[in-house]
Amino acid sequence: MNPLLESNPHPVPNWHPGLESKYAELMRKLEGQAVCLDWPLQLPWIDAINQLKRQRGARIMAHSYQAPEIFHGVADVTGDSFALAQAAADCDADLIVLCGVHFMAETAKILAPGKTVLIPDLEAGCSLAASITAEDVRGLRAKHPGVPVVSYVNTSAAVKAESDACCTSANAVQVVAAMGTPQVIFLPDQYLGAYVASQTNVELLLWAGRCEVHEQFTVQQARHAREQFQAKLVAHPECSPAVLAEVDFVGSTSAMSQWLAREQPSRVALITECSMADNLRAQFPAIEFIKPCKLCPHMQRITLPKIYACLRDLRHQVSVPETIANPARRALQRMLAIGRGERG
Ligand code: 13P
Ligand code: SF4
Repeated sequence: MNPLLESNPHPVPNWHPGLESKYAELMRKLEGQAVCLDWPLQLPWIDAINQLKRQRGARIMAHSYQAPEIFHGVADVTGDSFALAQAAADCDADLIVLCGVHFMAETAKILAPGKTVLIPDLEAGCSLAASITAEDVRGLRAKHPGVPVVSYVNTSAAVKAESDACCTSANAVQVVAAMGTPQVIFLPDQYLGAYVASQTNVELLLWAGRCEVHEQFTVQQARHAREQFQAKLVAHPECSPAVLAEVDFVGSTSAMSQWLAREQPSRVALITECSMADNLRAQFPAIEFIKPCKLCPHMQRITLPKIYACLRDLRHQVSVPETIANPARRALQRMLAIGRGERG
């Protein structure tokens, strides 16, 4: 039995001055993100989670849109959806805590069926995943017989199970091309679909799903960042085609980070969820970030106290029935076999 649990079943970790020297490196890295008043609140949780994580032999995986105290403070693996899927498939720990949204935890469970996969908040959803059902996919297949279905990973396991292959924003173009057909049903993100269509000769039959965060960005915002701040512009392909036409680079959350490492612009505006800019600012202190203020409400449901409770109580366990997990795994493994795209 974990001594932290034995002594008190529901402890709230306390601040003690030793934490400041123990986490001096983290505090230095996150200077400018976490105001000093937050440290006495955050460090006890960070320390308690790191202790419990070691005792449980757990691996914490965090998406690029997680808050900096999670991304830099407790995660063992960080990155885009593709990196998290790959890490789950390769994971040698028996316990995975997925700090991200539900489809990411489901993907981890499908690719690592023998492991326990936990998500700190079961309600962490996604507007894209909610936009389409397995029945909708069967309807599309009936309407377009013989046309393969490529699903963005931002879908439920049941939708993946109806798909020929999955993709992420890191390899959508490559997965569509690998189908080898003149037409592909691409779902559910109509903006990512439009971006992929602009990069291939394949005709894409699209679904009307959108990311509730990225659909809000406007051409005027992009132009304002360029004209007002002389910033380079980098965007996620879930933005509208009109916004993407304004920017210097389009890529997955990991690809954006790799682009910054390569190009080292003096000033950049990230047209994507805004935690990403906080996480990257800690990684690239020489770059000045103009950040938007749009947070994904689903990603924000994951907090340090919820991660702690999740590890302490081993909840919420993600499960996927075998009849769905098996075909969904085939679609995901096809995606992993194709790998990242050139710019992914
Ligand atoms: P990435 O695959 O680029 O990490 O994006 C996932 C996502 O949900 C973006 O909104
Ligand atoms: Fe879904 Fe958009 Fe949130 Fe990504 S940012 S998880 S696509 S709602």
